[in-house]
Formats: sequence, C-alpha cells, structure tokens
Amino acid sequence: MIRVLFVCLGNICRSPMAEAIFRRDVKEAGYADRIIVDSAGTGDWHIGKPPHHGTQDILTTNQISFEGMYARQVNRTDFSEFDYIIAMDTQNKRDLEQLRQQTGSEEPTIKLMLDFVSNTTLRDVPDPYYTGNFEEVYEMITEGSRNLLAHIIEKEGL
Ligand code: 4NP
Repeated sequence: MIRVLFVCLGNICRSPMAEAIFRRDVKEAGYADRIIVDSAGTGDWHIGKPPHHGTQDILTTNQISFEGMYARQVNRTDFSEFDYIIAMDTQNKRDLEQLRQQTGSEEPTIKLMLDFVSNTTLRDVPDPYYTGNFEEVYEMITEGSRNLLAHIIEKEGL
C-alpha cells in the first residue's frame, strides 16, 4: 500500500479538501486498492470536528464525498506510516520537519501542495479560514491533486 497524508494547520479547511479531492482522483484512476489517503492538522484546536462549512459546501457542490472525515492532529508515528506527506503551506512544512526530527528519521520528504501546481508563483495554499476564499483553494488543490497522483503513479511504477 502507498500512503498519502495531507497536512494543514487546523485540519478543517485545506487538508480535508485535499484528502477528499485526492481520494476521488485515486478512485477514478482505479487505484483505490493501492493508495490510502488521510489528512491531519499540526494544531489541536479542532480535533474530532468535521470539515469547515466552506470546505463542505464546495465539496458538496462538486459531488465529492467527505463522509467519515474528522479532524485529527499529526503525530510522530505518521512519519513511519506515510510514504508521502504533503503540507499546505511552508509553516506546516517547518512544523512537520521539527516533529519529524524528534523521531530521528529524515523520511519521508515533506513536499508542498503547490510544488504540484504549475501556474502559480505562490508557495502557500492561502488559508480560507482567514480569507474566506474556498473557491481559489479548490482550484489549486484540484490541479495539485491531479499532478501529485501522476507523480506517484510514475514514481511507484503503478
Ligand atoms: P486549515 O485552516 O489549516 O486550512 O484547516 C485553519 C483552521 C482553523 C484555524 C486556522 C486555520 N484556527 O486557528 O483555528
């Protein structure tokens, strides 16, 4: 199994959106039995909560399921359990690298979601918890998800 974890700050806006979109893409590409998808937050404020209404609304509009998704916080065991960890912004990436350091491992490499988006100069997916703009995040993550899946298919020889 190939395991992919998306991480943001609260695990209610961006990373659950990425989890839901990527899981849909994986399923449509026929890899649901090869790739496991999850998301988590670096913060603990929203543990146990479903996605933010803005994320729920845009996923519902686009007929993408978020059933059974509830926020959790990243933990040290995630670094041994996941093959790909994708951070939504550079602060998430720094926080993850600090936590990973406590495990004594340098694996896996932590990538940014926008590393997989070509038509932007941004490095951080803007946080819609503050901007209110879930649409721009949806567009970025939709492209990033597609390119990430292509990257994994090629890298893993699927
Ligand atoms: P997310 O957005 O990291 O995309 O889930 C946030 C959600 C909650 C908070 C910050 C960002 N918060 O500070 O509670």
